[in-house]
Parts: sequence; structure tokens; C-alpha cells
Amino acid sequence: LFLPLAALILLAAGCDAPVLPGTPNPANRPVPEDQVLDFDALYQRNCAGCHGQNGTLGPAPPLNDALFLAIVPDDVLQNVITSGRPGTPMAGFAPSHGGPLTAAQVEVLAKGLKTHWGATDQPRSNTTPPYLIEPTEPSEADRQAGAAVYATACAGCHGKQGEGGDTAGAINDQAFLQLISDQALRRLIITGRPDLGMPDYAGADGRPAEFKPLTAAEVDQLSALLAGWRSAAVEDAKP
Ligand code: HEC
Ligand code: HEC
Repeated sequence: LFLPLAALILLAAGCDAPVLPGTPNPANRPVPEDQVLDFDALYQRNCAGCHGQNGTLGPAPPLNDALFLAIVPDDVLQNVITSGRPGTPMAGFAPSHGGPLTAAQVEVLAKGLKTHWGATDQPRSNTTPPYLIEPTEPSEADRQAGAAVYATACAGCHGKQGEGGDTAGAINDQAFLQLISDQALRRLIITGRPDLGMPDYAGADGRPAEFKPLTAAEVDQLSALLAGWRSAAVEDAKP
């Protein structure tokens, strides 16, 4: 009996015979971009440049922040990654917004933020101000109340009018305010930037002795003040 070599190889391949030298191992083949479903790989490739390698210390708000992840609703994570935040550097990553990620990849990231970095050991107090910004237009009275809260909670580091101080930079600065949403400002007031030394809504470090944790109403008022700094400049610039 006599079989040609080619037939032997075919038979061998069909029954898990030893792999011939030089045969590529399918496990080593690079996964096509749109098939990558590993959180770390997706995060490093698409997000780390702005949000920081480990989700902190980047130019964009930290995502690896237990308080942020405790208060941000799941559908916000999904929507922001899908559609971005118009008017800010945060672009939409879904194909519907011209982005490079599939719906499945967006979901891996949205869910993975909480499972990889979520708050497990940090109990959420029921006085923590809510993440979502009020959709109502803030009033002049809100802005004035915000200025009073600012004087105690923020001025010591950022300067009396947000012009910057010894320990922290300017926030009443158009180059900064024009590129950040009211929602992100509100979130930074609540979470602080623990990676950069800014205290959260309850943090007493670097604040005067009379400081008390910010209430939800005070966070609304502060958000109104900061948004007002932005729109005041826009008004001034109108002919
Ligand atoms: C103990 C000092 C301290 C206090 C008090 C403080 N901050 Fe900050 N803040 C910082 C530091 C430090 C940074 C990061 C470095 C920088 O931007 O100068 C920062 C950054 C910021 C940023 C920019 C964050 C970013 O991601 O670019 C905003 C907005 C801000 N603070 C708002 C506030 C507001 C509003 C208050 C009052 C509720 C406040 N801060 C209170 C120290 C402080
Ligand atoms: C080019 C820079 C850039 C890249 C890349 C980027 N982001 Fe962002 N991201 C931002 C900025 C800036 C904001 C704040 C936007 C605002 O002002 O509301 C933001 C906001 C967010 C928020 C909301 C945070 C909050 O405080 O409410 C989430 C969630 C988020 N990004 C997730 C991601 C994920 C996941 C990726 C990767 C797929 C990503 N981002 C890539 C710049 C970026």
C-alpha cells in the first residue's frame, strides 16, 4: 500500500497529529481590530492617551476613580463612549458616530470600567451629591449662592475669582472652560482629582476649618457659577 505525501499530511492534520515545523499556530495570529474584546487592550489603544494609562493622571477626567464609578449611571458610561460629549475632546467611539469600535467593544469598555475599577470597598453615603446635572437653566441667585460656596470650598487653592493660586491652577480660564462640559465640571466638584491632589466634595484637606461637605444644592450652585464664568466671556465677546 502506498499513499502520496500530500494525502498523509491531510490525514495527519485531521487527527491532531504533531504540527509540521513552520505551520503557523492559529493562537498566535493577531486578532483583527474589530474582534478585540479584552478590556485592557481596548482601553490602552483607545482611551489611555487622554484618561491616563491606569485611568488616572491624564488630561481628561480620571475614570479609575471609585467615587466617580459609584455615582455615574451605567447608561451614561454607555452613551458617552458611544456618542462622545459634543463640544469637548471626547469623541464618539461607535460606528454611528464615525468611531472605530463595534457596539460589542463599546459595551466591554462601558461595563469593564466598573468591574475593573469599580467601588467595592467604598460605601456610598446617601448624602453624596448625584452625578447628573440638573437640566434646568441656573438663575442669577444660584450663581450668587455659588460664589459664596466657592469662597469657602475652592478659593483657598484656585484663587478668589478662579484665577489660580499657589497650590492649584486657574479654572476661570476660557481655554479651559470652552472645552469642558457642565456635566464634567459638576463631576469634578464631586469627585475632585484625587490623582492630582484636589479633594472631593467632602474632603477637608487644604480647606478652611468651617468647611462642611458640599450638599447636592451647593454642588448645583457651584456648577452654575463655573458655567456662568464661561458664558459671561461668551456674552462679552459678542459684538
Ligand atoms: C486643596 C486644594 C484644592 C481645593 C480646595 C480645590 N481644588 Fe480644584 N484642583 C486642585 C488641584 C491640585 C488641581 C489639579 C491641578 C490644577 O489643575 O491646578 C485641581 C483641579 C481642578 C479642576 C480641573 C480639573 C481637571 O481635570 O483639569 C477644576 C475644574 C477644579 N479643580 C475645580 C475646583 C472647585 C470648583 C473647587 C471647589 C469646590 C476646588 N477645585 C477646590 C486643588 C484644589
Ligand atoms: C482625545 C481625548 C480623549 C479620548 C481618546 C477619550 N476620552 Fe473620554 N473624555 C475626554 C474628555 C476631555 C472628557 C470630558 C468631557 C466633558 O467635558 O464632558 C471625557 C469624558 C469621558 C467620560 C465621562 C466622564 C465624566 O466625568 O463624566 C467617560 C465615561 C469617558 N470619557 C470614557 C472614555 C473611554 C472609555 C475612552 C476610550 C474608548 C475615552 N473616553 C477616550 C477625552 C477623551
